[in-house]
Amino acid sequence: MKSATASAVQARAPRHVAIVMDGNGRWAERRHRPRSFGHREGQKALRATVEYCLRKEIRALTLFAFSSENWKRPAGEVGALMQLFLKALDREVDELHGYGVRIEFIGDLSAFSTELRERMHKAMDKTRENRALYANVAVNYGGRWDIAQAARRAAEAVSRGELSADAINEDSLAAYFSLAGQPPVDLFIRTGGEQRISNFLLWQLAYAELVFVDTLWPDVDASILDSAIGEFASRERRFGKTSAQVTGSPEQGAA
Ligand code: IPE
Ligand code: IPE
Ligand code: MG
Repeated sequence: MKSATASAVQARAPRHVAIVMDGNGRWAERRHRPRSFGHREGQKALRATVEYCLRKEIRALTLFAFSSENWKRPAGEVGALMQLFLKALDREVDELHGYGVRIEFIGDLSAFSTELRERMHKAMDKTRENRALYANVAVNYGGRWDIAQAARRAAEAVSRGELSADAINEDSLAAYFSLAGQPPVDLFIRTGGEQRISNFLLWQLAYAELVFVDTLWPDVDASILDSAIGEFASRERRFGKTSAQVTGSPEQGAA
């Protein structure tokens, strides 16, 4: 009985988890520390989350680290975040590579300094063949930007004669989006208590299960992730069908 329950839960494990890592600033403010202190602490939760996903054999993890709107923050906070990204790239990439993690940065990287851009590309090149976990980090990312860049690249393919306008449909356009080729996002988690998407993945979240947790990102640990995944496992994903169709039980009062 116990193992049957376990395998049912296993069958409902998400293959792709996307997380809005929110609440760093409030975590620091509550301790009367600068917001950048919260961002530094947040990196520990990020690392623990990657290790959690490796342990649980989750295929893909997409983390929202910096939105296209976050440039509007005070220059000091943006500068501190850029320094943190640089340091994290220096510190973490070799170890993640050792674990077999493929690192991918998604977003408009052209806005970053040459130094940062070079290190991001180096990390992506180095880990390209790894398959233990796709770790996608969304930086200067916006869901609307992703839709616009996919449309632009499809239009470019049309003008080169490689794609006919008539052939643009959901399947062919999907290939131009960030995260193409990875499993669809099953579970979206936002920490920090806000219940919004904040221009994170839009196209890719079409049928994700949304889970909002109050815990501030630096306090996230395996037990919080376990309960979000437990919540996911308890949901019935119908993808437009009826509950009876999904469960294989007889239709009640069928039309
Ligand atoms: C999320 O935490 C991290 C980034 C946006 C870079 P916040 O910095 O938004 O934290 P709160 O929401 O102000 O607490
Ligand atoms: C979303 O969080 C972006 C990241 C976590 C990187 P924000 O804190 O920027 O979102 P809003 O401004 O509260 O919607
Ligand atoms: Mg926030």
